[in-house]
Amino acid sequence: MADTPGKKATANEEIVVLLKEDMKGEHAAIIQYLQHAYKLSEGEIPTEVEGIARDEMRHFRWLGEQVVVLGGNPTMERDPIFLDTPEGFDLMLLDVEAEDRAVEQYEAHLAAIDHPKVRRLLERILVDERTHRLMFKDFVKELGGDPNKKLNPPVGPWNQDGNASAQDLEVNSKGETISANLEAENRNDHPLVKLLNNRVRQEYMTVMTYLHRSFVRWNTNPALSRSLLEDRAIWHMTHLGHVGEAVAGLGERPEMISSPLPMVQAEVSDRDFSQWGKENETQLVEDTLQLLQKLLRADGEELEGLELQLKRVEKHDRFMEQQFEDDLN
Ligand SMILES: [Fe+2]
Ligand SMILES: [Fe+2]
Repeated sequence: MADTPGKKATANEEIVVLLKEDMKGEHAAIIQYLQHAYKLSEGEIPTEVEGIARDEMRHFRWLGEQVVVLGGNPTMERDPIFLDTPEGFDLMLLDVEAEDRAVEQYEAHLAAIDHPKVRRLLERILVDERTHRLMFKDFVKELGGDPNKKLNPPVGPWNQDGNASAQDLEVNSKGETISANLEAENRNDHPLVKLLNNRVRQEYMTVMTYLHRSFVRWNTNPALSRSLLEDRAIWHMTHLGHVGEAVAGLGERPEMISSPLPMVQAEVSDRDFSQWGKENETQLVEDTLQLLQKLLRADGEELEGLELQLKRVEKHDRFMEQQFEDDLN
C-alpha cells in the first residue's frame, strides 16, 4: 500500500484489511512481551515489560473496536512470535526490533489511509510504539547488551510477510534459529507443570474469547462490552500472569498457544455467551481448587506466593461467575 503513492484506502473494507494486519501485530506483541517478562522474572524490567504488554492490549482493543465500527470482523489471529534467546538482553533486542517494525507498519498504514478518525487512532498508537522502542533499548543497556546490535529475526510481531502460519521461533544456545515447539518441550518434570500449563492455555483462551466478544458487542451493547473487557478479560490477563510466572519459575515455558476460540461466530446471542461464560468460570473455579490441593502437596520455593494468588484467583472467578449469572437475569 505504501509503495503506491496516490492510492489511498478510503473504502471501509480496505481500511479493515490494514487494521486487521495491525491487530495481528499487537496480539503477537502482547504474547511475546509477556513471555519475555516471565522469562526475565527478576527486578524491575519484567514489571515494565508487562506494562508495555498492557499498552499493546489497549491498542489491540482500540483496533478491534474500530474494525467493528467499520463493519469488519476483528481477527484474533496473531503474527508469529520470537520466544527465546540464551541472553536476556537479546530478548529485549527482539522487542526493539518488533517496535521498529510496528513503527514502520503504522507509518505505512497512515500513509495509505484517508479516514480522519482512523488516522487519529494510528497516530496515537505510534506515540506509544516510538516510546516503547526507546524503553526496550534502555532495557538492553541495563541488562549489559548493545542496543544498536541487530538480530534481524525472520519473524516476530508485525512481521509484515503476510505468512500467518509461520512458526514461533527461538535462538538456541549455539546461536541457531529453531522453531519453538512448545508442546514437544519437556524441560521439567515437576508434577505441577502440566496442570499449570493447562491453566495458562485456559486463561489465554478466556482472555481472547472475552475480548473478541467485547469488540463485536461494542456498537450494539456497550455496557456488556465494557464490563467484559474491563473486569473480566483484564482480570484473566492478571491470572495468566500469576500462572505463567509460576511455569517460568519452574524453568518451563508458558504455553500461550494460539488456538481456535469458542463462541466467536457472529450468531451467538448474549444469552448463550453469558451461559458459556458462566460455565467457563465454574470450570476455572474447580480447576483452581484442584491446583491448590496439588500445590499444597508439592514443594519447591519456586512456587512460593502462588498459593496466595490462586486463592485470590478462585474468589475472582466466583465473582465473575456471578456476573455472568446476573447478565442472564
Ligand atoms: Fe501497540
Ligand atoms: Fe509497542
